[in-house]
Amino acid sequence: MLRVIICVSGGGTNLQAIIDAKAAGKLENAELVRVISNKKGAYALERAEKAGIESVCVSPKDFPDREAFHEALLKTVEEAAPDLIVLAGFLVVLPKEMISRYRNRIINIHPSLIPSFCGNGYYGLKVHEAALARGVKVTGATVHFVDEGTDTGPIIIQKPVAVQEGDTPEILQRRVMEEAEWILLPEVIRLIAAGRIHVTEGRVYIK
Ligand code: GAR
Repeated sequence: MLRVIICVSGGGTNLQAIIDAKAAGKLENAELVRVISNKKGAYALERAEKAGIESVCVSPKDFPDREAFHEALLKTVEEAAPDLIVLAGFLVVLPKEMISRYRNRIINIHPSLIPSFCGNGYYGLKVHEAALARGVKVTGATVHFVDEGTDTGPIIIQKPVAVQEGDTPEILQRRVMEEAEWILLPEVIRLIAAGRIHVTEGRVYIK
């Protein structure tokens, strides 16, 4: 059984998609062992509790400096002994130590087709605002492994989503979630749990 922890910062609709996939029997080789939030009161924490998943909040506000926060975050991760760490709207730069310790075992969902509209400053609604400002006709979502850069790790899967006339950032965000994110993230967890994802020289192969 693949032990999965999910890190969240907000509403947690991607977390919900994972919980729903598990309830629907689509993740039979994966166990959702812990949800970690950096934000107190994040709705994602309630979603976890309702689903009976242990949830823990590690807020930077409770620590004197970044180092102490990073230490606590890593401890909370390690206690759960994860095989896979899923960043589902987790808006925290991970400690370097965590990235090297869990190399190719941390995945992130990003709401664009990387390398478009990604990197520092591109998160949440800002990504869709930038896509609309540029006038792209197609956007989408990407699930990738996490490395030391921002959104630079090996790409696992991508799905395009059409931009439509009259889209606002909010409307586009919702369509990207519905048509791409909520499908891709559980699917990648399923593939990893089935041992079907391999990384060779920075490229991902699905077998
Ligand atoms: C999602 O759209 C996710 O792709 C994005 O934050 C949102 C979280 O929503 N992540 C990033 O922008 C990461 N760079 P959720 O809390 O409802 O899942």
